[in-house]
Amino acid sequence: MKPHVYVTRKIDSDIVAKLNEAAEVSMWPEEDVPVPREVLEREIRHADGLFCLLTEKIDDTLLAGAERLSVIANMAVGYNNIDVAAASARGIKVTNTPGVLTETTADLTFALLMAAARRLVEASDYLRRGDWVTWSPMQLTGQDVYGARLGIIGLGRIGEALARRADAFGMQVSYYSRTRKPHAEERLSLTYAEMDDLLRESDFVCILVPYSPDTHGLIGRRELSLMKSTAVLVNTSRGGIVDEAALYDALKSKTIWAAGLDVFEREPVATDHPLLTLPNVVALPHIGSASVKTRLRMGHMAADNLIQALQGGTPPNWVNRPE
Ligand code: DGY
Repeated sequence: MKPHVYVTRKIDSDIVAKLNEAAEVSMWPEEDVPVPREVLEREIRHADGLFCLLTEKIDDTLLAGAERLSVIANMAVGYNNIDVAAASARGIKVTNTPGVLTETTADLTFALLMAAARRLVEASDYLRRGDWVTWSPMQLTGQDVYGARLGIIGLGRIGEALARRADAFGMQVSYYSRTRKPHAEERLSLTYAEMDDLLRESDFVCILVPYSPDTHGLIGRRELSLMKSTAVLVNTSRGGIVDEAALYDALKSKTIWAAGLDVFEREPVATDHPLLTLPNVVALPHIGSASVKTRLRMGHMAADNLIQALQGGTPPNWVNRPE
């Protein structure tokens, strides 16, 4: 008998076909509506494998009803939506999709940096509103990107890919991470900086550290107060890393120049969220990895991980593999 897999969102038919070869597949039929918790609770009871997205909270309460479950394949590199310790305690493998989204997410991070620095969204809105009556010397002036100083918080794959883009823009790049990366420093001509120094010295600060209880609120009022008044903060990791109330105050009072945000503490962010009232915020709906190719690759990778695990093999991207 084939194992049973539940897929929490409508996904590409080729990926479903791949899963179908190895399992009986049930799938939540909506593309843009998340699976309701009660449906997931019901479905997970008789699932051997779960294919899920970062929008699903996979906690211990849910797993308590998942007696047959042996693998959770998350279609994301980040897996803070899953209680990995609870999964491990129940002998459930957890997998993610690293690598395939690195360049796409670095592209988006750099695009946000530029959009916030040069006020692209604000300028486009200005034009569409009909406010453009003449060219004038200081109209919609922003911050230079070329030759500026970039500080990267969290030098993983995406951080390194961002550093390569910054190099082409003549930027000086420093980074902060819990452990120093001497090889990357040499390869990419990066300098290591303690976090406070990085915040004080950078024209652009990009957050690329993974979200965990340790990084929750990493950038708060004190950290924002250290930044230059001309600095731009970019977050394409997870919203909870930045204290949003503190960020609002810093942007409103021009303690910092602008922010580019692809992620929010609560997603979808409420349309009346104070940050969205500010012209110096470029806000996106968590689209860092959203290119057609990359999202398909992520889906295939999650499916491959799931199938390998169901067949008793070692999934390539097993995040809670015992030492
Ligand atoms: C991830 O993979 O963790 C991103 O946030 C979405 O691609």
